[in-house]
Amino acid sequence: MSEVPWHLSCVRCGETYAGLELRYRCDCSGTLDVIHDLSQCELTREILDARLSSKDSLDRSGVWRFRELILPLGDEKLQEIAAARGEGSTNLYNASEIGREVGVEDLWLKHEGENPTGSFKDRGMTVGITVAKLLEMSAVACASTGNTSASMASYAAISGMDGLIFIPEGKIAFGKLSQALAYGAKTIQIEGDFDDAMALVQDVCDSEGIYLLNSINPFRIEGQKAIGMEIMQDLDWQVPDWIVLPGGNLGNNTAIAKGLLELHELGIIDQLPRIAVVQAAGANPLYTAWSEGTDIEPVKAETIATAIKIGNPVSWRKSMRGITALDGIVTEVTDDQIMDAKAIVDAAGIGAEPASCATVAGIRRLVQEGVIDPQQRVVGMLTGNLLKDPDIVVNYHMGELDGIESQRANAPISAPADIDEIRRIIRQ
Ligand code: F0G
Repeated sequence: MSEVPWHLSCVRCGETYAGLELRYRCDCSGTLDVIHDLSQCELTREILDARLSSKDSLDRSGVWRFRELILPLGDEKLQEIAAARGEGSTNLYNASEIGREVGVEDLWLKHEGENPTGSFKDRGMTVGITVAKLLEMSAVACASTGNTSASMASYAAISGMDGLIFIPEGKIAFGKLSQALAYGAKTIQIEGDFDDAMALVQDVCDSEGIYLLNSINPFRIEGQKAIGMEIMQDLDWQVPDWIVLPGGNLGNNTAIAKGLLELHELGIIDQLPRIAVVQAAGANPLYTAWSEGTDIEPVKAETIATAIKIGNPVSWRKSMRGITALDGIVTEVTDDQIMDAKAIVDAAGIGAEPASCATVAGIRRLVQEGVIDPQQRVVGMLTGNLLKDPDIVVNYHMGELDGIESQRANAPISAPADIDEIRRIIRQ
């Protein structure tokens, strides 16, 4: 398996490496891209649409359906080796009611919380773990704010690999921690934050020969590209005006941009959407760098949206390149705005975890600022499932979150087991 039809290329200096070399960075320390030979790619809308009605597991996967642009190993090899468990093919909800609340008429929400482990990370993980198998690795590791680790633990388990997880102690949502433990990964809680955990895991992987599955791994990005591709297919290849998503370690917006640019180069879509990346105001190094036109300055991150509580994002250079290519923008929203947007998304019956709802809060801000026109078609990404972080939901509705105004609280009502009292409550 040494000869593969893609290669790796440094984002900073352009140096190239073989496609399956065990490395995450260039010798100059720049991060790496997977470069496909698009002139050899014969994918068309017709082929992709035909796969929607196929019974083949690769065709049915919302990631492997796009395999020629993700990991072009040929169908036979992929049938044998792909570590898949039905990721992708998530719903794209017509969310015009939520749209009315935030000021856009034509709002759609892509619910990546509907993936097997409840977040978009499964799309990158199915590819990352498949590459780990190709490289004959027996152990994989990641640092995480919770979703990457939940996903990695599951995909490692289905592939018979050891999973090693570094998480910031006490700072990840319980749903995510329970997944990591349940799927059997060795879980190390670091006395520190995500950025400390990220630094440690890179050292450990280098010294112990463990495969690193954070989004610095370029194959994670390849899998996550499929989100943007699937949105285009969901909309019957009619390109929306905007794609809006939250930004933490900045792998996902990097991936969406890369995938859409490739689809465009192949002529599968005839124009490009704009992209908006939304950060939490307490974890906003990209927003600051973007606004000031500088390199990233790490910050000490603090936000209620623990998934994006990241002060020193690894993929910022790639991320900025993609935002620029898609005529994009970066914005920030406060925790209060995130939780208000979350209450709207949840009460619409769709529901998502806090970081996901930065998307909707960001759309509202960008409409108010006149950046997004109320008539434009906007696709927002909900990145994680509501059940990932149940504590925050209950505390919000009980009005018990410090510094958050629970304006849309739906607190539970305590009642004695008495029918008259219950009737009184219902009729109130
Ligand atoms: N939304 C959710 C629910 C996430 O879990 C993450 C990242 C993001 C958004 C941000 O995506 O990092 O690609 O910019 N979670 C990572 C983790 C960091 O460890 O689970 P990003």
